[in-house]
Amino acid sequence: MHNITIIGAGYVGLVTGACLASLGMPVQCYDIDAGKIECLSKGLLPIYEPGLESLVSNCIRSGKKLDFTTDLRKAVESSDILFITVNTPTLENSQCDLTHVFEAATSIAQYINGYKIIIVKSTVPVGTCRQISNIISNELARLGKNHSFDIISNPEFLREGSAIQDFFYTDRIVIGAENKAAADTVKEIYTGNLQCCSPVLVTGLESAEMVKYASNSFLACKISFINEIAAICECCGADITQVAEGMGLDSRIGMHFLKPGPGFGGSCFPKDVKALAGIAEGYGVELGLLRSILKVNDEQSERMLEKIEKAAGGLEGRTIAVLGVAFKPGTDDIRYSPAVSIIRSLATRKATVRVFDPKAMGNLKKEFPQLKLHYGKNIYSTCRNSDCIVLATEWDEFADLDFEKLKSIVRQPVFLDLRNVYQPSYVKQFGFYYEGVGRK
Ligand code: UDX
Repeated sequence: MHNITIIGAGYVGLVTGACLASLGMPVQCYDIDAGKIECLSKGLLPIYEPGLESLVSNCIRSGKKLDFTTDLRKAVESSDILFITVNTPTLENSQCDLTHVFEAATSIAQYINGYKIIIVKSTVPVGTCRQISNIISNELARLGKNHSFDIISNPEFLREGSAIQDFFYTDRIVIGAENKAAADTVKEIYTGNLQCCSPVLVTGLESAEMVKYASNSFLACKISFINEIAAICECCGADITQVAEGMGLDSRIGMHFLKPGPGFGGSCFPKDVKALAGIAEGYGVELGLLRSILKVNDEQSERMLEKIEKAAGGLEGRTIAVLGVAFKPGTDDIRYSPAVSIIRSLATRKATVRVFDPKAMGNLKKEFPQLKLHYGKNIYSTCRNSDCIVLATEWDEFADLDFEKLKSIVRQPVFLDLRNVYQPSYVKQFGFYYEGVGRK
């Protein structure tokens, strides 16, 4: 039985640690943030991810080893499998900030007391795993320590809001390795316990790192593509939902990631596409598509704002009710959320902005305390006296609105459905002006 340490109890680390522990593997989750570790030790999670809280408490209740610690030395010495799952934010210059990754590597070298398999699960630029290997080797030499280790690249493909399902029923497990025995050990950790039989692809280190960036960039490309097609549909009278269905029936295209909206957000797509573009430019590779994916996405928010301004009859002094703050439903994460960029622009343009989100309003208040917004207690109080209702994030709570009631409380019956949740005719029958994305 392997002993596992997770370095970085953030979103990916927590999900990975809890899922592996639930399979019976002894897991320690380390984080530098003592406050976070204290909360986790009491079963309180610093993030909202459906099912994660119960997964963690079930592990603890059923006596499965899932410990939380700030003692990295102990965590390294007592495990043979070390996952690096620290965050790799984007710097101003679009480069990936690898500070925490390299700090973890140096600490591992300082505390290493025997053979370890070091698994890099953080999303890192191509070539980083090799850099980590060199950092550890150099630090071991500097300390006069003669321990062997193997580096593995094992990118995560977890979607916020469905991360636990994505862990247990992943489409693929990618293992980048230099050493077959190490790859086989990591393969065993997954396939030896996962109920599903996800295909395992063993590649070189750089290829595994590139799979992650290329996959996310391609998914982001699908979204920017369908958003552009939606803009054309609005001009020529086509309905994007029918167009997307017609496209998606082609098995080479597939139905997924063809939903137009206010653009892609989250802590991954914008960062990963930017980072891959930065890597390419670093090699002097001329870019066309990657930069366009980002440009189309940036312009999508602006396009939504123009829709709102036109539908509400202006912005200054208008009351706009925005339903949805999180970058997608099922999470409280507002990083790069298109809803947040719309809310900020509305406030800047002197609209009166009322917001409601089932989970993410706390993060909005914390991140942007200076924004003068009205935080609604519920959907209907938020929409009261509004000149325009904007559905920005497709939470289930917004999928069955009482339009009769809304019509009686709004100032102007205007409904902008930025996620095409509703049939236009359904909303119009209540006397609302309806506008979606790529449909009338
Ligand atoms: C993504 C990848 O899906 C996942 O594999 C990777 O590990 C991490 O990044 P995540 O960012 O959590 O996951 O969410 P995802 O469901 O991919 O959505 C990303 C963004 O695209 C969201 O803002 C979502 O609203 C948007 N989106 C998604 C669309 O606008 N249209 C779609 O059809 C799908």
